[in-house]
Amino acid sequence: MSDFVNDFWNLYVIVIVLASILACAVLLIVQGKATFTPGKTMGHVWDETLEEYNNPMPKWWSWMFVITVVFALVYLALYPGLGNFKGMLGWTSVGQHKVEVDTMDAKVKPLYDKYMAMDLKAVSADKTAMEMGKRLYLTYCMQCHGADARGAKGFPNLTDADWQWGGQPEQIVETITGGRMGVMPPHAQLGGETIKDLANYVRSLSGLPNDSVRATKGQAAFTEAGCIGCHGADGTGMQALGAPNLTDKVWLYGSSEAVITETITNGRQNKMPAWKDFLGEAKVRLLSAYVLSLGAK
Ligand code: HEC
Ligand code: HEC
Repeated sequence: MSDFVNDFWNLYVIVIVLASILACAVLLIVQGKATFTPGKTMGHVWDETLEEYNNPMPKWWSWMFVITVVFALVYLALYPGLGNFKGMLGWTSVGQHKVEVDTMDAKVKPLYDKYMAMDLKAVSADKTAMEMGKRLYLTYCMQCHGADARGAKGFPNLTDADWQWGGQPEQIVETITGGRMGVMPPHAQLGGETIKDLANYVRSLSGLPNDSVRATKGQAAFTEAGCIGCHGADGTGMQALGAPNLTDKVWLYGSSEAVITETITNGRQNKMPAWKDFLGEAKVRLLSAYVLSLGAK
């Protein structure tokens, strides 16, 4: 693939680079032929005391310039630098990066293989594995779930015993491997009054202060509006759908009536990215073990 929009720029770069090197060479040759009068001054006087001798440059100095010119030509023949010319060695920064990554992968592979063969719970109890897991976590997961993995609004806390998508080893592996998409549909069509009733009922489920008359009406609406289809008849949620347990004290978005009203009215959508293609199975496994080690048992 060419880096230039058309061939003109390719030639432009080549001509400028070669012309500059040639100019240096010419300057060196011309200077090599200049005549000097060692010991004599050029005749200029500055500040009444400063005079200039007409001496040649030290030899080692001129040789350094010659070496620079030769080096530049050899370098440009071997490595990319002259427009689109790829250099005789075929070196690329991408290629070098790949070699380094492959070398590193080959080095750590036996370690990962060992963890691949172990039970996930055993991996989560392995000190070295958990140090690796923590480093991976801090690189790839921290932005969303926080450095302490306690999450934030919309990003689940991974250190508690409450699991939106399940806390069993295979469920955690599945979450990280394929990602998750939580969709709570909007219910604005129910109308403000019913939504207020529902919000009070939802708050009553976890023992928060509520208007009991509204909560009773909300309980009926919870069934009629189909909330039970995802959150279950008792509001304890359904991990297969990522529908949170509404009866505990853990909130993804917040427990105030205003936030719950907003959740029910406008719905919520939330995405946990998939990591299998990006990180590969072995790293996903280490991360799963790390998450498992964080969660309260
Ligand atoms: C771009 C933000 C983002 C990044 C980066 C991210 N996550 Fe998530 N993660 C989420 C969101 C959002 C959810 C909740 C999804 C939902 O509501 O359905 C989630 C959910 C989870 C869950 C499920 C929690 C539960 O209660 O069931 C686990 C486990 C998890 N993430 C682990 C990780 C790991 C490990 C990484 C790093 C490889 C990671 N996440 C990186 C946004 C992110
Ligand atoms: C199609 C399934 C589905 C239906 C129907 C549904 N929900 Fe949800 N609900 C979810 C999912 C999934 C989430 C989590 C969204 C996310 O991951 O961001 C959620 C989130 C919530 C939350 C936020 C919980 C928190 O921890 O912040 C509340 C409150 C809620 N739903 C109440 C209701 C009520 C009330 C109804 C009925 C009007 C209802 N839901 C209907 C799937 C559903």
